[in-house]
Amino acid sequence: MKNFTDIPRAISVVVLLFLCVWCKGQEETSAAPMEKTEKEALYSTIQGFVGNLWNGSDLYPDPCGWTPIQGVSCDLFDGFWYVTALHIGPIEENSLDCAPEVEFRPDLFAFKRLKSLSLFSCFVSPRLHPVSLPTHSWEVFSSILESLEFRSNPGLIGQIPTGFGHLRNLQSLVLLENGLTGELPTNIGNLTNLRRLVLSANRFKGQIPYSFGGLDKLLIVDLSKNSLSGPLPSTFGGLTSLLKLDLSSNQIEGKIPSEIGNLRNLTLLDLSRNNFTGGLTQSLQELCSLEELLLSNNPIGGDLSSVEWHRLQGLVILDLSNLGLTAGIPDSIAGLKRLRFLGLNDNKLTGNLSPKLAAMPSVGAIYLNGNNLTGELKFSEGFYGKMGRRFGAWNNPNLCYPNGVGGSASHGPYGVRQCHQEVTLYGVDADSKSSLGNGPNGSLNQNSQSMASLGFPVYGADVLWCLFLSVNVTRRFTTLDINGIDKIEHRSDG
Ligand SMILES: *[C@@H]1O[C@H](CO)[C@@H](O)[C@H](O)[C@H]1NC(C)=O
Ligand SMILES: *[C@@H]1O[C@H](CO)[C@@H](O)[C@H](O)[C@H]1NC(C)=O
Ligand SMILES: *[C@@H]1O[C@H](CO)[C@@H](O)[C@H](O)[C@H]1NC(C)=O
Ligand SMILES: *[C@@H]1O[C@H](CO)[C@@H](O)[C@H](O)[C@H]1NC(C)=O
Ligand SMILES: *[C@@H]1O[C@H](CO)[C@@H](O)[C@H](O)[C@H]1NC(C)=O
Ligand SMILES: *[C@@H]1O[C@H](CO)[C@@H](O)[C@H](O)[C@H]1NC(C)=O
Ligand SMILES: *[C@@H]1O[C@H](CO)[C@@H](O)[C@H](O)[C@H]1NC(C)=O
Repeated sequence: MKNFTDIPRAISVVVLLFLCVWCKGQEETSAAPMEKTEKEALYSTIQGFVGNLWNGSDLYPDPCGWTPIQGVSCDLFDGFWYVTALHIGPIEENSLDCAPEVEFRPDLFAFKRLKSLSLFSCFVSPRLHPVSLPTHSWEVFSSILESLEFRSNPGLIGQIPTGFGHLRNLQSLVLLENGLTGELPTNIGNLTNLRRLVLSANRFKGQIPYSFGGLDKLLIVDLSKNSLSGPLPSTFGGLTSLLKLDLSSNQIEGKIPSEIGNLRNLTLLDLSRNNFTGGLTQSLQELCSLEELLLSNNPIGGDLSSVEWHRLQGLVILDLSNLGLTAGIPDSIAGLKRLRFLGLNDNKLTGNLSPKLAAMPSVGAIYLNGNNLTGELKFSEGFYGKMGRRFGAWNNPNLCYPNGVGGSASHGPYGVRQCHQEVTLYGVDADSKSSLGNGPNGSLNQNSQSMASLGFPVYGADVLWCLFLSVNVTRRFTTLDINGIDKIEHRSDG
């Protein structure tokens, strides 16, 4: 019995001890003070974003101590707390969300140690409540701010302030999916510490400044989904650290500059959906780290023989559809041992198909449809069976496969007639073509943006796509089978 009465006593001692330790902890953290200006700047800045009903001094009397605010990080400098990161937007369940009457308050520029500012899905009413970026005061952040990110803010309009050119310590500038307009400021080229420059999915227009070519620490450049025009500056050949370059879905024109061949560490090059002309630049063959090359939907013209394809031994995805390419398919393409996806559809390719294409060890999808290939297909029945509709050879009126191969239609190449037989194409029309999951004009490019932007997909991006196009493409591929490829292509339908 004695033991039983002792237990509550023991518990209360433990609880008391715990409380004491807890109290002491509280004392210690709140012992570090915060400058009044810093604290008031924090309350006012947040209130500007989340609305006047939010009373910071009531709810969070010690914002860097025992009443932390979700999305706010602090650090101690000389015994005082300073705000080092401010992230607003619906990232986690208890994150602060912006109010309809959201505004930038000048107090934002009172932070003395702010390293990272991010506003996600915060300015959402381009019609009812459009907001522009502050034009002044960015210079106060010149030696401290490292990361600036505005993402999914359709109500954030106007131009990039030239004051951004002062942010010399910036390593990451992400302006993704906003309503920003105008030309890209030349003095972004002064931000020589930048490693990531993502300006995708806004309404930027005009030329890409030559000055960007001086940012030689850049690892990721994503300017996709804007209305940029003019040439791709040859100075981009100076971005020698670059891993990913995505300029897709703009109106960039002229020849792909030969200086692009200097980018020896580049793993992704996406120039699809632009207005590039002048044939395939030979120096593309120098891009020895390349894993994904997407050039589809450009009036490039010329033929495939201008590049020695077998030199690009890391290639996993090669999308050259709808480029107006003529002449034949060189054997050097069949020498790409890691290639999983080959898109040559909707060109003006001619000649016979080499059976070597079927012998590529990793290939999971080959699209050759919509060309003028001729002669007999000499691949094995097993190959057709394995590939199904991922071997696209339809819409080549002068192509056929020999009698005897397969016998039944299910084992022949999909949509191709047998030789010496007046059989019409079965079931191939515009409708079934798109149902093949190869997307409009057979291109992959719509999906690569999210990956290139951030090294990982944007919110809501398909998980499969993330697997497919992750940084280490090779390793991920080994975990995906042929069906993986099929599913991924279906994603490009959307
Ligand atoms: C917050 O509440 C305190 C008292 O509860 C009040 O004095 C102060 O003015 C309020 N601040 C704002 C910005 O509403
Ligand atoms: C950018 O750098 C150039 C040359 O160093 C300098 O003349 C110019 O003033 C800088 N612009 C800004 C906004 O810092
Ligand atoms: C290219 O990548 C290699 C290996 O990761 C690295 O050592 C090298 O410094 C990179 N080159 C440039 C110019 O960044
Ligand atoms: C593409 O370039 C040609 C001339 O090279 C021009 O006529 C055409 O308007 C451009 N198309 C777009 C969409 O910019
Ligand atoms: C396809 O090639 C054949 C001969 O190889 C030629 O007669 C025909 O005109 C070509 N068709 C097209 C659309 O270019
Ligand atoms: C190919 O793209 C063009 C313009 O991008 C579009 O007009 C056309 O409908 C597309 N073709 C198919 C088959 O989707
Ligand atoms: C990618 O994965 C392969 C296989 O696991 C590995 O050998 C290689 O070092 C990885 N590359 C990078 C850049 O992580």
